[in-house]
Amino acid sequence: MQTELLPVNDESLSRAGELIRAGGLVAFPTETVYGLGANALDADAVRRIFEAKGRPGDNPLIVHISRVDQLSPLITGAPSPAARALMDACWPGPMTLIFPKSPAVPAEVTAGLDTVAVRFPVHPAARSLIEAARRPIAAPSANRSGRPSPTTAAHVLEDMDGRVPLILDGGACAVGLESTVIDVTGDTPRILRPGGVTPERIAEICGGVTVDDAVLRPLREGERPRSPGMKYRHYAPTGALTIVQGGADAVAGKIRMLYDAALAGGKSPLILALDGHIDAYGDRRCLSLGADAEAMARSMFARLRDADALGADAIFSEAIPTDGMGLAVMNRLERAAGFNILEADG
Ligand code: TXA
Ligand code: MG
Repeated sequence: MQTELLPVNDESLSRAGELIRAGGLVAFPTETVYGLGANALDADAVRRIFEAKGRPGDNPLIVHISRVDQLSPLITGAPSPAARALMDACWPGPMTLIFPKSPAVPAEVTAGLDTVAVRFPVHPAARSLIEAARRPIAAPSANRSGRPSPTTAAHVLEDMDGRVPLILDGGACAVGLESTVIDVTGDTPRILRPGGVTPERIAEICGGVTVDDAVLRPLREGERPRSPGMKYRHYAPTGALTIVQGGADAVAGKIRMLYDAALAGGKSPLILALDGHIDAYGDRRCLSLGADAEAMARSMFARLRDADALGADAIFSEAIPTDGMGLAVMNRLERAAGFNILEADG
């Protein structure tokens, strides 16, 4: 299959809309990461997404809408007061809500679950694509399963060349990591995956929020996760990634030591550090994660891909505090590292 890469304009959007209606796949930009879309109401089209990504069939997809009135045909019952409040405050935007599903949503989309994940993105190209298709669009992130999520069209091409007919290029994604997934089927909203909307913000809107405790730890042997996505190794570069956490000076000292030992052992090491800390690593090979949690969210997946492109096989990254956007950043980084985390203090 030839993969076409087109800038977003009226012509490419109308082509993309036709492709979706005909059961095809289109990769497209959103404010979080690039998505790989298909008609959410067409089971065969949805199956093609799983094939193209190499995604396990038991990991459900998010259904994307471009107007709130597209929600009710997808769900059973009315949204709870907390769901309403979140929709009013954060849609369109980087937030996905889990509702009881309606029979109109194929089991392929929800991986057989009786709930469906729905998101109303704010990115104009994503909204225009859904309008052009005149159908809700099921879309996971547009990476090969297990790879870092794509935040540019070039990343999508890297993973999907020859596997999808069309990639719409809308530039770099503003948030840089995926939407917050919130289960709103109970009384208190429960965060299953932290993302672009922070727990602090959700608590402010709803008066309370639960963060699923599997967000920052590996699943236990035999544990059944509330979100199937928690099960899988995610976002991983090819090189072995180690996170070092603790006070800034202790972290820098520990990473310098690990780096030098790796180099002496014949490895090709690389450091991922916040802007303000880069000087602490002298002339060791270092990539910047940006100045704060928001910048790190935007840059992290690209830096993990850069690490691969540089042939790094021993990657050492600084940790950041888990407040605000830091929770989503550390959730991704810890999974990318397979929870290989070292303590620098003491
Ligand atoms: O920002 C985003 O959410 C991006 C863009 C493209 O919109 N999409 C995305 O999709 O990240 P994906 O497939 O990579 O992640 C979807 C996550 C998975 O962890 C999946 O397990 C969870 O949402 N999920 C989907 N449906 C679910 C459900 N019914 N119950 C619990 N978790 C669900
Ligand atoms: Mg993904």
